[in-house]
Amino acid sequence: MKHPSLVQQTRFEPHDMAPPALRRAVLDGLLARPRHLPSAYLYDARGSALFEQICTLPEYYPTRTELAILQTHAAAMAARIGSRAVLVEPGSGAGVKTALLLAQLHEPAAYVPVEISPSALEVTVQAMAARFPQLPIHPQQADFTQAFTLPPALGHAGGAGERVVFFFPGSTIGNFDPQQAQALLARWRLLGGPNAGLLIGIDLRKDVAVLQAAYDDAQGVTAAFNRNLLVRINREFGADFVPDAFDHLARYDAEHGRIEMHLQSREAQVAYIVGHALRFDAGETIHTENSYKYTLSGFAALAEQAGWQQDAHWTDPLQRFGVLAMRAA
Ligand code: AVI
Repeated sequence: MKHPSLVQQTRFEPHDMAPPALRRAVLDGLLARPRHLPSAYLYDARGSALFEQICTLPEYYPTRTELAILQTHAAAMAARIGSRAVLVEPGSGAGVKTALLLAQLHEPAAYVPVEISPSALEVTVQAMAARFPQLPIHPQQADFTQAFTLPPALGHAGGAGERVVFFFPGSTIGNFDPQQAQALLARWRLLGGPNAGLLIGIDLRKDVAVLQAAYDDAQGVTAAFNRNLLVRINREFGADFVPDAFDHLARYDAEHGRIEMHLQSREAQVAYIVGHALRFDAGETIHTENSYKYTLSGFAALAEQAGWQQDAHWTDPLQRFGVLAMRAA
């Protein structure tokens, strides 16, 4: 994984071949009807670089909006979290958001980045150690979408006077469907113990035109990010997709409250992948990503089902993005 930028964390394994379960999901999804791909597969080296570029686009408001919320309210967030927090960050961090928060925390007990890629984890450790030389760092190499454990040194819920607090910025929770999101939050609630905390960024429901533009930018960076899935499939599976024969489609599904990304076949065509002939009709799509948008109360209700109770929340003046502080119910 490339060095996480100061703008946004990156995830997943860009340099290596996708792990077997992800490869299986790619093939199964392409053979299914309607066709779909796991959004985790978006993040190879090029995909991660394109995503970082997306985060700086004028239309893509989430990154800078969340950053502004953190800049304005980090002290209040730190006060909510309290002293001796063990800050657990699922996904590689070391970005400006994590540093902002850590700098405000009162006597943080430890920082625990959880990341599947050993190289990304190492980059995170190096960056945070340089920035916070006194802070104990306990990297955990694990896929945060699955069950993982906290470092044994910390015990189940941290040492004496410590409190495990999960930090999950970036509205990454929106890329899981609500059921998966709830399951993820329920696992963290159990892992964190009875005194657990959660600070999470969510993208809020808003004017459809604003959402649409954020996922279909004028420069075509999001389109390239989406089409890169086919480039990656060609490389990793020896497939023969013509990426430019698919249009990038981003549409808001009001019923589910989500932006969907699709790749839409421009014409009837066939692509070959490991012995399968995939026949596409003109206009047929591959569903490549969901990005769920929540209301503050809707997300609080979802989190409540997972054992979390809302403590406080902060938004930007336009109410585009929310950061919620939660504690174990
Ligand atoms: C990583 N994730 C929160 C982004 C989002 O907004 O759902 C991924 C993304 N997809 C297209 N643009 C950005």
